[in-house]
Amino acid sequence: MCECGKTGKGTFYVTTPIYYPSDNLHIGHAYCTTATDTLARFKRLQGYDTFFLTGLDEHGQKIERKAQEKGVSPQAYVDEICVNTKKLWQIMDISYDDFIRTTEERHTKVVQKIFERLYQQGDIYKSEYEGWYCTPCESFWTEHQLVDGKCPDCGRPVEKAHEESYFLRLSKYAPRLIEHIKSHPEFIQPESRANEMLNNFLLPGLEDLCVSRTSFSWGIPVTFDPKHVIYVWVDALSNYITALGYLSEDDSKFRKYWPADVHIVGKEIVRFHTIIWPIILMALGLPLPKQVFGHGWLVIDGQKMSKSIGNVVDPVVLCDRYGSDAIRYFLLREMPFGADGNFTNEALLSRINSDLANDLGNLVSRTVAMIEKYYGGALPEMGQRQEVDDNLIALAEALPGKVDDLLSKMQFSTALAEIWKLIGECNRYIDLTQPWVLGRSEEGKARLNTVLYVLAECCRIVGVLITPFMPKTPARIFAQLGVEDEALRSWDSVEDFGGLRAGTLVHKGEALFPRIDIKKEMEALAQLNPKAAKREEAPKAEEKREEDKAGLIGIEDFAKVQLKVAKVVSAEAVKRSDKLLKLSVQCGGQTRTVVSGIAKYYKPEELIGKTVVLAANLKPAKLKGIVSEGMLLAAADDEKGLLRLLTVDGDIPDGTQIG
Ligand code: ME8
Repeated sequence: MCECGKTGKGTFYVTTPIYYPSDNLHIGHAYCTTATDTLARFKRLQGYDTFFLTGLDEHGQKIERKAQEKGVSPQAYVDEICVNTKKLWQIMDISYDDFIRTTEERHTKVVQKIFERLYQQGDIYKSEYEGWYCTPCESFWTEHQLVDGKCPDCGRPVEKAHEESYFLRLSKYAPRLIEHIKSHPEFIQPESRANEMLNNFLLPGLEDLCVSRTSFSWGIPVTFDPKHVIYVWVDALSNYITALGYLSEDDSKFRKYWPADVHIVGKEIVRFHTIIWPIILMALGLPLPKQVFGHGWLVIDGQKMSKSIGNVVDPVVLCDRYGSDAIRYFLLREMPFGADGNFTNEALLSRINSDLANDLGNLVSRTVAMIEKYYGGALPEMGQRQEVDDNLIALAEALPGKVDDLLSKMQFSTALAEIWKLIGECNRYIDLTQPWVLGRSEEGKARLNTVLYVLAECCRIVGVLITPFMPKTPARIFAQLGVEDEALRSWDSVEDFGGLRAGTLVHKGEALFPRIDIKKEMEALAQLNPKAAKREEAPKAEEKREEDKAGLIGIEDFAKVQLKVAKVVSAEAVKRSDKLLKLSVQCGGQTRTVVSGIAKYYKPEELIGKTVVLAANLKPAKLKGIVSEGMLLAAADDEKGLLRLLTVDGDIPDGTQIG
């Protein structure tokens, strides 16, 4: 009996990162989860006792601030997002076995125990932190790691942090970790990421890591010092074992599935998974995950998709229009998993038309239609084989092994390309054998038996092999082929050619993937998400005229104006003018001169210290001989003689973007 007791194959434990709660999950987020789901489905299909974990990373300063902005409690904020996240995963057929939330007691209690244990054994100690913190990345940085004073990962401003903190002795474990990485080349994949970790972080020397915060409270309290909350990354990374019941009453899953076979993560968080996480595990005396795979990003015009840039593409909209299988196919086919890939609507629509509607859809519908036409719908028996049949059959027989090998290396795109090679060869086989000619004579019909059997069996094999990638489509292929027997949908059934039984009744169904009118769809998508689609297609001239008449502008026009927070540092009257004031404003490290027509409404001294809104990217203009570098926004009613400057409430640094 194998270790899992259920199948002969053993266990397979695969995880995605647990996501930060976001009310705007985009197609980039779906990318990582779709790939992980595909791998989990593939391993299940092969008979592994598979466990696929995902979830939400719900603590930290970032979430606390977002909840504050919305005026709700952090728990209420994350609860609502959790419902929507699970809905998206349902739409995309994400077959997770567990969904862990870091606010659940099963997690928080165990994280506290882990922290206590590491403290008791001296791997965590108390000291004082002084350095920088990037809240969007929840990362600590030293002065020399900053790039132009900003976060080296995301380029956003960092905040000074100076507080009493607990520290984890990364330095103590660094030599062991370096040794592990060097002696286990499969541990960090792709290999380039291992070199990056060694050269940029480990070999220059690891500093101990600050693992608690006192400046906010939305986190797991340290039991023996509750004004501290546990650093969100220590909290989050532990999910991979808390979900399995580590240090709980029932740790059977932990014993069964740990160590993980692979943590699939985005490239920007490989550092946390290959430095902090293994060191926590080493300190706990636990085995390390077998592999951490860092995938690339889905980008638009070279920029990572992100809410703050406004270029996000909504996967729900795409699944709604084209079906989740088409979106899953595109994500996994379009770019190699380790590298970045550009997302465009045009690439998506072209793939749907060429690969799904033309190649796969046509193959299935032609095959079934010909069996109906020439055999009344009953699959003929395979007759004598010729070289052309043997070649195609050999390709089909070699395919499962190739797919297995490629997926073990996370080469989703190449695995699909191999499957589509068989589909392409089948379509070519139809052109070569010309079944419509064979169908005309009795002698030809003897040959046609083999041709149609081979085609139908290839369609079945394709149906089985695409199951992990596109969970809905195979059932539709099997329905058309009349495959009712579960055994013929299994991995084992594709190892030998010839599973389909002669006499099986086929049924022609609807087109698997209807062809899309690309031009029309591009326009519709551009309307739905102008910023993401702006470089793809301009609106039609007639629609544009209508919009112009109505005074409407697109978000892309609005986004051209850079509005920024500025502080007035000095103000004086402009000579020979009763309308104008000359102001000096501070904006993101620069002092600018702005000439403003507000003299009737403000005395210069009233303006000093005001936090105002500056249109910062206007071309400079000369007014009464003074160059004005921007414009202050104001609400004005000339007829009533009213004018008030727009000011910004609260404490916010000058230079901050408004929008
Ligand atoms: O990092 N393309 O969560 P997260 C590809 N909570 N992948 C993308 C992407 C894009 N445009 N945008 C995001 C976190 N992702 C932590 C993880 S694990 C213990 C804690 C991927 O919500 C990203 O690379 O910011 C990451 O793998 C995942 O989405 C979650 O990102």
